[in-house]
Amino acid sequence: MTSENKINLGNKPTIQSDSDSVTIIDNKTQKRFDLSVLSPTVGDRSIDIRKLYTEHQLLTYDPSYSSTASCDSKITYIDGERGVLLHRGYTIQDLASKSTFLEVAYLLLQGHLPNQNELSTFTNTITHHTMVHEQLQFFYRGFRRDAHPMSIMIGVVGALSAFYHDSTDISDPQQRMIASHRLIAKMPTIAAMAYKYSIGQPFVYPQNNLSYAANFLNMTFAVPAEEYKLNPVVVKAMDRIFILHADHEQNASTSTVRLAGSSGANPFACIAAGIACLWGPAHGGANEAVVNMLREIGDKKRIPEFIKKAKDKNSSFRLMGFGHRVYKNYDPRAAVLKESCHEVLNALGIRNQPLLELAMELERIALQDEYFVERKLFPNVDFYSGIILQAIGFPTSMFTVLFALARTVGWVAQWKEMVEDPSLRIGRPRQRYMGEPQRPYIPIEKR
Ligand code: SDX
Repeated sequence: MTSENKINLGNKPTIQSDSDSVTIIDNKTQKRFDLSVLSPTVGDRSIDIRKLYTEHQLLTYDPSYSSTASCDSKITYIDGERGVLLHRGYTIQDLASKSTFLEVAYLLLQGHLPNQNELSTFTNTITHHTMVHEQLQFFYRGFRRDAHPMSIMIGVVGALSAFYHDSTDISDPQQRMIASHRLIAKMPTIAAMAYKYSIGQPFVYPQNNLSYAANFLNMTFAVPAEEYKLNPVVVKAMDRIFILHADHEQNASTSTVRLAGSSGANPFACIAAGIACLWGPAHGGANEAVVNMLREIGDKKRIPEFIKKAKDKNSSFRLMGFGHRVYKNYDPRAAVLKESCHEVLNALGIRNQPLLELAMELERIALQDEYFVERKLFPNVDFYSGIILQAIGFPTSMFTVLFALARTVGWVAQWKEMVEDPSLRIGRPRQRYMGEPQRPYIPIEKR
């Protein structure tokens, strides 16, 4: 053992570590054993516990996976302390300002930025998968008109596996690629149809001459009665919002997709599981909750009242759009979105911007408050996104749908990376059992 540094954990196993391994001394059994420490390309090292149970009958305990690396991945790197987000090594700032969403989608899927020919071919492939089976429209009729669009997304995306049997054999690389393209291409169409259904307007078909973001806006806001004029600033903002939501390491919904995929479930079912998980207000549902919260606050004078409530341990209220499991610094995506807010609202000629002004004042006050500073709670991706989306014309109920639309490329890329890993095994966590030990059965007459 070289350069041992002994960390005394009291009456628990004492862990000593050096550059390649840690030594566990189980103070109960007096057993002492080494575990290797795995080094990443960049970032935190991991203790390899894969044989801990089979060789030492010990489990690790980490209910919310705060200290658990669930997989190897080359797709996204987050440095939470420094607020850094890389996709295949490129900063989110560079990608958001210099790339398009389909370019980033290619990067996430293939691992390198496409040259012009690769991008044209990929764009053409995606464009020609944007239509959905004509039967699919009848699924929408089964929902109430006031159904939340996320409930429709879960149902319709899961149903895609009923239409595309020719791309559900995950052992076939060709089928995996076709399923990936279908999901990325059809999400905007399915999302726009969910919106149209909720407002009782006819579905609008994709137009192959439009870009990915423009096509989505056209399917969402065009009506057969007149030509829809696309605003280039809005198209660019939409594309950038998609980039900023594309992937984010092993977040809850991505981990859901991976766990579902580890059983061999087809990609459409896995993505439907990811959509379901994303819907939670602690995750992707926060963008809708932020705007609802800002509207409830209503006036800068009421901000202290809500800050107080957010700090009150007896209240379940949290400042939506604030805090993050990994970022203990400003979420770099929030910074880009805050910038975009000003750009889009001004470009749309929206002078009266009460929600943005309220959000900025709320951020200013919170970031001066010891409670938020001490806990390193900063605005996250959801804090400003909704302000742009509602300015573009989306109802709050569509905000998480847009998050799911964009995150589909990340989910698909992570799913593909996992399925193509030769060491793939079904994910099956254990537990710490806190229930009754075995006990004799009691017949009902004696209970
Ligand atoms: C996304 O994982 C990802 O990468 C997700 C995501 C992605 O791209 O996939 O980035 C997208 O989901 C962003 C997060 C969106 N959610 C919200 O904005 C909801 C509000 N935020 C919180 O619920 C919370 O911050 C979480 C869920 C985001 C993170 O929760 P953690 O890591 O479990 O943090 P925690 O609950 O342990 O909080 C630590 C402390 C606690 O106080 P103490 O017990 O130490 O006294 O900070 C407090 C919490 O009460 N706290 C908050 C708070 N967030 C944390 N207090 C008030 N308001 C908040 N928003």
